[in-house]
Amino acid sequence: MTSELPQHDLRTTAGKLADLKDRYHEAVTASGEAAIAKQHARGKKTARERIEQLLDPGSFVELDEFVRHRTHSFGMDAKRPYGDSVVTGTGTMNGRQVAVYSQDFTTFGGSLGEVAGEKIIKVMELALRTGVPIIGILDSGGARIQEGVVALGKYGEIFRLNTRASGVIPQISLIMGPAAGGAVYSPALTDFVIMVDKTSQMFVTGPDVIKTVTGEDVGFEELGGALTHNKISGVSHYLASDEDDALDYARTLLGYLPDNNLTDPPVYETAPELETTDADRTLNTLIPDSPNQPYDMLTVIEHIVDDGEFLEVQPLFAPNIVIGFGRVEGRSVGIIANQPAVMAGTLNIDAGEKAARFVRLCDAFSIPIVTLVDTPGFLPGTDQEWTGIIRRGAKLLYAYAEATVPLVTVITRKAYGGAYIVMGSKQLGADINLSWPTGEIAVMGGQGAVNILYRSEIKRATDAGEDVTAVRTKLANDYTYNVASPFLAAERGELDGIIEPAATRVAIVKALRALQGKRASQPQKKHGNIPL
Ligand code: HXC
Repeated sequence: MTSELPQHDLRTTAGKLADLKDRYHEAVTASGEAAIAKQHARGKKTARERIEQLLDPGSFVELDEFVRHRTHSFGMDAKRPYGDSVVTGTGTMNGRQVAVYSQDFTTFGGSLGEVAGEKIIKVMELALRTGVPIIGILDSGGARIQEGVVALGKYGEIFRLNTRASGVIPQISLIMGPAAGGAVYSPALTDFVIMVDKTSQMFVTGPDVIKTVTGEDVGFEELGGALTHNKISGVSHYLASDEDDALDYARTLLGYLPDNNLTDPPVYETAPELETTDADRTLNTLIPDSPNQPYDMLTVIEHIVDDGEFLEVQPLFAPNIVIGFGRVEGRSVGIIANQPAVMAGTLNIDAGEKAARFVRLCDAFSIPIVTLVDTPGFLPGTDQEWTGIIRRGAKLLYAYAEATVPLVTVITRKAYGGAYIVMGSKQLGADINLSWPTGEIAVMGGQGAVNILYRSEIKRATDAGEDVTAVRTKLANDYTYNVASPFLAAERGELDGIIEPAATRVAIVKALRALQGKRASQPQKKHGNIPL
């Protein structure tokens, strides 16, 4: 398409202004009504509509709306719309400056060629230079097939910039359509991936290639839909019910994050109640008398964060561990908590990796971490051992051990074995470690310890025809009382205090106040070698 603009007298200022107006109109309507209607019919907004909804009204300032591709092959000369296949620019979200790009599926299927790539790179570089978050909205068929290696090269540059920006500015990806092929690796390198149910897919190789190579029959949705990546692969951090929900989540999420690694997240004025409240006291009855009975750790979280507001991240993936953001005294905190209501809160590979990445995110962006512990230990089994629980479980240890943000840990019930150490123990570098009196800290649980320590006693009871279950239970209870008591850990200073559950909220407020001036650093190095 070549522009057929109305003629103006370009020798006059009025003519030039009219020409600008026409060209701008052409740029913002480049895709045409039919393509926009098709996009809407699929339950998808256009690139510009998404930006408008994401940013504060009237704040968007577009960049590069007059660029055009320079490809001649495959008849591309005939269609050179202004702006190419992505809309980029800056604006504000809740008054905070951000940079944004939004791929336009209605133009060349949002595919990324040289010029679209240059636009994204320019706005990412601007975000990095000015220290503001970058939000990418993806809806693209991937590398522009007509442009070959040039398109691939631009992806390479984007990946490099994603990596450069990692830990410097928050990067949020909203997947609102296809993200196919190697293109998925840009969002994968960012801090958060938000996907929209039913209308977004991410995959490295599509159903056709899979069918040819492996013979497997799988559809787009099952292969790489939002549910798959939120529940099974853990690629995505939030399953949005629709585009509005995705954009809302991104806005809320950003509220917990700083602009960059040299600033703090926004602080909201609050006056916390420093006396124990009736709501606090309900925690005193949360822990069941039976150690095998579950309870919902979300209840604890909701009692310690301001107004009970908790933004869970990756709620569907490895739900045996809970991660997310809340505020304490108006300041952002990252929460990491075992969830005894799912798999008894055991740690498996997925849970370890989920939590490790979150620890590193909080640490990179100066967000204190509150860890809540109730885990019987690592999940036993050949599946876990053979898929690398040693190598992959070590990530969580590494992440906590290198973190320099304030770390507050509260043990609510079980903290056994390696899981005690890994979940923000004092020895890994936590600043304030507390336990409820219901805490159980030992190398292993009572039943397991009895099997090893009292083997002969159990054999004797069996031979004597005694009630072995009763003998076992008594020995296990004695072990738990004598060895796993949190007071033993407190005696050695491995816990800084034992508090009643009702005192937890106030204790965390005071601990985070005390740690506000924390200074800690790691030795100078190029970078560590986290087990990947
Ligand atoms: C150029 C593309 C394109 C692409 C889509 N289009 N993908 N043009 N390069 N990669 C164009 C189509 O020709 C069509 O143009 C318009 O976009 C809409 O596409 P449709 O196929 O009609 O839409 P739909 O049926 O919704 O299917 C969407 C899709 C499919 C699933 C994304 O288009 C598709 O499979 N595209 C190719 C995906 C792919 O394999 N990409 C390369 C991945 S490899 P018209 O003019 O007809 O409207 C890669 C490498 C990155 O990206 C490497 C990084 C290291």
